[in-house]
Amino acid sequence: MLEDTSFAIHPGNNQNLSETSYQDVGNVTHVDKDEKGYTFYCENGYVTVTFNRADIIRIVMNQKAIPSLKSTPAVIAQPETVEQELKEESDSYIISTSKLDAYIQKAPFRLRIQDKEGHIIASEQEKGLGFQENGEVICYKEMLEQDRFYGFGEKTGFLDKRGESYTMWNSDVFAPHNPETDPLYQSIPYFMSLRDGRAHGIFFDNSYKSTFDMKTESDHYSFRAEGGQLDYYVFIGPSPKDVIEQYTHVTGRMPLPPKWAIGYHQSRYSYKSEQEVREVANAFIEKNIPVDVLYLDIHYMNEYRVFTFDKDQFPTPENMIQDLKNAGIRVVPIVDPGVKKAPEYSIYQEGVREDHFCKYLEGDIYTGDVWPGESAFPDFTDERTRKWWGEKHQYYADLGIEGIWNDMNEPAVFNETKTMDTNVMHKNDGDPQTHRALHNLYGLLMGEATYKGMKEQLGGKRSFLLTRAGYSGVQRYASVWTGDNRSFWEHLQMALPMCMNLGLSGVAFSGPDVGGFAHDTNGELLTRWTQVGAFTPYFRNHSALDTVRQEPWQFGEKYEAIIRDYIQLRYQWLPQLYSLFREAHETGVPVMRPLMLEYPHDEKTYQLYDEFMIGDNTLIAPIMHPEVTDRAVYFPEGTWVDYFTGEEYSGKQTHLIHAELDKLPMFIKKGSFVALSPVRQSTMHKQDSLIFHVYANDEGEYKTVFYDDDGETYQYEGDDSMKLPVTISSTPDEVSITFGEKQGGFNPSYQNVDVYVHGLQDNQTITLNGEKVSGERSDQGVHFQAKL
Ligand code: GLC
Repeated sequence: MLEDTSFAIHPGNNQNLSETSYQDVGNVTHVDKDEKGYTFYCENGYVTVTFNRADIIRIVMNQKAIPSLKSTPAVIAQPETVEQELKEESDSYIISTSKLDAYIQKAPFRLRIQDKEGHIIASEQEKGLGFQENGEVICYKEMLEQDRFYGFGEKTGFLDKRGESYTMWNSDVFAPHNPETDPLYQSIPYFMSLRDGRAHGIFFDNSYKSTFDMKTESDHYSFRAEGGQLDYYVFIGPSPKDVIEQYTHVTGRMPLPPKWAIGYHQSRYSYKSEQEVREVANAFIEKNIPVDVLYLDIHYMNEYRVFTFDKDQFPTPENMIQDLKNAGIRVVPIVDPGVKKAPEYSIYQEGVREDHFCKYLEGDIYTGDVWPGESAFPDFTDERTRKWWGEKHQYYADLGIEGIWNDMNEPAVFNETKTMDTNVMHKNDGDPQTHRALHNLYGLLMGEATYKGMKEQLGGKRSFLLTRAGYSGVQRYASVWTGDNRSFWEHLQMALPMCMNLGLSGVAFSGPDVGGFAHDTNGELLTRWTQVGAFTPYFRNHSALDTVRQEPWQFGEKYEAIIRDYIQLRYQWLPQLYSLFREAHETGVPVMRPLMLEYPHDEKTYQLYDEFMIGDNTLIAPIMHPEVTDRAVYFPEGTWVDYFTGEEYSGKQTHLIHAELDKLPMFIKKGSFVALSPVRQSTMHKQDSLIFHVYANDEGEYKTVFYDDDGETYQYEGDDSMKLPVTISSTPDEVSITFGEKQGGFNPSYQNVDVYVHGLQDNQTITLNGEKVSGERSDQGVHFQAKL
């Protein structure tokens, strides 16, 4: 294609898309209050200001009519009743809640939000809310020199997004995923900004193509969309964790995944026959490499028809699935939205007869080419079609399948625009709108249909969904993998900030294709990538057609042994990870965290993209370059203990860490603890013990909650779970461990906990719940058993 040659920079191309005709909403003429909020009548439009909570303000501008408060399906929270007060002064209005003051300048309309101590959270200067003649809506906000930007979902590049501009338009991008590749598969029009250690967030709830620009101007940034209303929320923080709590209050949090979904997943495009699937499963078992899931990519189907199996290659899928399950392994098949246009194919027939496919206004079904050739696409904007699609999953559930992989749901189409014709008219539950307006919602709504359909089919068991495309709120239904990366070291490096920013954007359950999807991986890269994968929330090795095979044993004994160790390490860490999944489920705060989330006052963490934390006390600083065995690691405040050697490093400093290929640099904060378990071949095997590793300190207190439940049903939504508050207090003479009152009625399979105290000083004693314990010294530290 010509764009891929130097023609792209031909002087005659004149790609200058300079600002055209920004029109400001103008001066306020008067204000009206109704039960929804305050509406400011301005010279050139209307602005409604309303509150979801005292700390969540929503602003909606419409240049033509009184704003509608209808949201996209991203939003699930009903606004709470918020006590608020309006004061009018000569040049402004002030709306106050218990948490914030919103100053609205009258001429022209400008908004400044402040917290109760007078810190400015968000403000507008020369330009504020406006629009362009072509229907684009736009908002400018002031940007100070110290402001940092995070979030925006799935983006390439570094951690801090200042100096970048991003577009939201779900796109199937096979290549190349480099720092200027934008957009990718997900659209999460949300970010968090950090100013002097205090954070706020903005969610621009508009599903048209939108752009966030933190690059063009030095003193303000902007967000804009091609159409619709300017509808955005400001979350006032003040901590980054508060912002995530506020954003996920509005857009929802992930349900707890089944425990098997946080184990190790193995995939390949494709395991092409029943026999091959069985061989791969057996190899894992013979080689003692834990695994919970094997994937079926598009070759399992009959000519890529969804809801079918190729009976030649997969003659007895039900037996295969059952046999694997008996061995502790689940099978997850891919399900794409494209339904092959084939008059003898029942899904296509039903879809046509019952009017489930996307159509033009004039009534013709839209078709486009994907894997099966010419295909029709379900109109997931319609509740009736979502239900239909969901019910179709009985086909998979009846075969014993408990998880689904949704791909190509941007939707991807093999044509110039890479997607559906933007003129398609979606039914949108009685409010018809074009694909141009709703494109970014397609993946989210397919996810909703699939997740709810499977949930219904599984009779109380948790289902698992993996998706490539999504919009804000995708976390309610699916885990996200970051699409078609490549087996490059650079792509391993890129995965860290991408997943950390996804986590800051409400998507706590994400991960890249470990080893890299396209291109050929090698033993060293796969080993280093598996070390990282062992700690990304979603952990799947996947690779493309015609690339070298990349199962853990493909590169010889040396690499296999290390890869096995790290997959086993993942299984040891499952109790700790599961407690963190519970935290993300309850608060939105992600499992995998950038250091700035824990240390927002430490400037050294603001752009730290090559280290991450698991929870609040585990620091991971992987090696992500070939043949490198030393790296600089920045440690935030505190003292940090090397997980493997026990060596200690003092914080607020950078240390040089040595790590041969078999070592992932990982460190636990002194004074805290982690909850582990023995290795299992899969989560289907019983966990019969629990181990707490406590890292003794000589001062300070660490408090956390250990969580567990049955890991497979929704009983945790009732009382069937266990929350155990744990406090570790350290003084120069004592390390005291206190279990608080257990909550919930869940009875775990283990009754005791083995406690190991690492780094205990000779003059320090240990107490458990106030009573002195004398443990036995072992090479793991001082060991004793405690009743839960
Ligand atoms: C897309 C997916 C990839 C999958 C392939 C075939 O490229 O991103 O993961 O293997 O399609 O289904």
